[in-house]
Amino acid sequence: MEKVVASAPGKVILFGEHFVVYDRPAIVSAINLRAYVEAWKYDEPGVWIRGRRLSNHPASRAIEYIFGKTGFTSGISLKISSDIPASVGLGSSASISVASAATASLLSLKKIDIELVKAAAVEGEKIVHFNPSGIDTTIALYGGGGVYRKSSGFMHVDIPLKKILIVNTGRIRKTGEMVKRVKDFMERNKERFNMMLEKEEEIIRDAFDAFKNMDLEKLGKLMLENQNLLRELGVSSMEIDEAIKLALDAGAYGAKITGAGGGGCVICLVDEDKIERISKALSSKFKTYLTELSAVGLKEEKT
Ligand code: PMV
Repeated sequence: MEKVVASAPGKVILFGEHFVVYDRPAIVSAINLRAYVEAWKYDEPGVWIRGRRLSNHPASRAIEYIFGKTGFTSGISLKISSDIPASVGLGSSASISVASAATASLLSLKKIDIELVKAAAVEGEKIVHFNPSGIDTTIALYGGGGVYRKSSGFMHVDIPLKKILIVNTGRIRKTGEMVKRVKDFMERNKERFNMMLEKEEEIIRDAFDAFKNMDLEKLGKLMLENQNLLRELGVSSMEIDEAIKLALDAGAYGAKITGAGGGGCVICLVDEDKIERISKALSSKFKTYLTELSAVGLKEEKT
């Protein structure tokens, strides 16, 4: 039986989550944790995993979108495996949607139609996100790193940083709820929110300058400024604050939420020679991953 396999990376948002929903730029990078989807044609219509029908899931929604567009009438059976922990801000559902949509494109069109996969994955994300900016699906698709803006899309920019330390607080949360929380904040504090949007844009501009010179001290400070804005929005948590404090006390340049917050993951900017010390300081409470940045995007894998 014909089998197709695709993989897509997770991501970290280095600067700009939440504000990106309001059409501000964000700096994002793919990471070397990936989701893999194997797929076969299935006799019964629909999306199936181990003989059970999958519905109301980002992957099934993305696949149904593709089959609707391509007129593919058979079903599809999937096997999903992923290195990316779910619901902690690392883009797990987007990478599964992108890789699943790619397998549907491969089965129905015998090739990966990037534009179709992109549209399908955004449809899939609508199930888990309240108002997706599209950043997660975009980076899972294209990989690498760069700047994303809702109205103008993704632009690759070389991010000279090779590695980042990710701390998983272990608290899972729903992106949609966090995005709603920010919307509530915005509605209650319009003037302040507008000032915060301006401030975030300034942070992003300064971050690009700091990346050019690899000024890690400056980048660390900017991360903390970004974190202060996120905390004010109400998307930090006790665990996040604790992880950041432990990382800073152990010598990190800076640390902040990555993704929607409310738990999930924190990223820490660290010198290579301090990684061991910082990981150790965090590991009694949290799981840490030293991840590589600018990983490749969607890929058809050999079967
Ligand atoms: O789903 P997460 O936790 O990776 O967060 C995505 C980033 C947000 O800015 C919070 C939402 C969005 O759609 O951009």
